[in-house]
Amino acid sequence: MFRCRAAWISVALVAACVGTAPFANAADKEPLTVNWYHKAQFLQPVIDQFSKDSGIAVKVTDAYDNFDTDVILVSDYKSLTEAKKLGSFEEIRSPDLDAIVPARWRDRDGNWYGVMLRARAVIYNKAQVRPGEIKSYRDLADPKWRGKIALRSASNMYNRSLLASMIVHDGYASAASWAKAVRDNAGERAEYSGDTGNIWRVAKGEFALAFVNTYYLCYEIAKGREQANGLKLADTLGVAWLDQDGAGQHVNVTGVGVRSGTARKDDAMKLVRFLLSKQGQALLSQNVFKYPVRSDVAPSALLQSFGSFRADELNLNDLELHYDEVDGIYRSVGWRAWQEE
Ligand SMILES: [Fe+2]
Repeated sequence: MFRCRAAWISVALVAACVGTAPFANAADKEPLTVNWYHKAQFLQPVIDQFSKDSGIAVKVTDAYDNFDTDVILVSDYKSLTEAKKLGSFEEIRSPDLDAIVPARWRDRDGNWYGVMLRARAVIYNKAQVRPGEIKSYRDLADPKWRGKIALRSASNMYNRSLLASMIVHDGYASAASWAKAVRDNAGERAEYSGDTGNIWRVAKGEFALAFVNTYYLCYEIAKGREQANGLKLADTLGVAWLDQDGAGQHVNVTGVGVRSGTARKDDAMKLVRFLLSKQGQALLSQNVFKYPVRSDVAPSALLQSFGSFRADELNLNDLELHYDEVDGIYRSVGWRAWQEE
């Protein structure tokens, strides 16, 4: 063991013993930090298993795109790109993780890995829409849905990434005409809400259709909102998986990265690897209601109850240069950039 005891020790060594070493020890006892942006309590069971297996204490925060935790979880490709531009991530490219996460769902420069997938599907009111009537995003452009579509604001990153993917697949003109038709179908004086608000507006029959990330259905069930609202979502809502005969259902990632400059990079990488392990992926799907990025892990039973789908294989990195076009389209068609919640 190294001891600081001799009178001949240099000033530098004294500083190392008296100053640095105790601080390093104290830092080791601080919990590693990670955020979950849909309430920390939902990620907690996943993290508890990691702490049990690794002996590493972890604190889960509710931080949303603050990029200030040792391990950073971000909910959409667009925000991941912004964090990368801010220099918030350490490069963590690893051959073993590259082998687990397909290139289309990880940063091409190794700054982050997709860790879970979300699907932005369409939900419909079963009394107003027949099963199979909605097969594509394009179907929502049909004028027969005038006044029947509940929208979320255009500044929402889920909607921005959705339209960016349409530009990549079908070109600017096609995406613009789709956005105009869907905006028109929301009615002249459209009222906007978040995904959660739109779930209940459709469930109660106020609207026939809305776009929703399906994990919000699970959160509403987990939070006991069915009892509070006096109806079971499965009774009144259907989920339409889209473009199964074409490009596939639009998906996007929750990405995981390690904060630039963290003193806990080794422990942070252990957590990243755990989240991408078979066990971690299954726990994530059960507790935060998203789809595993690993093809060898099944989605949770609750997710499977909504049915299965073929995901779009578009490489998310291809979205990067299209967000200005997206914002221009939404502005030009009057798809509002804010919402009332
Ligand atoms: Fe979300």
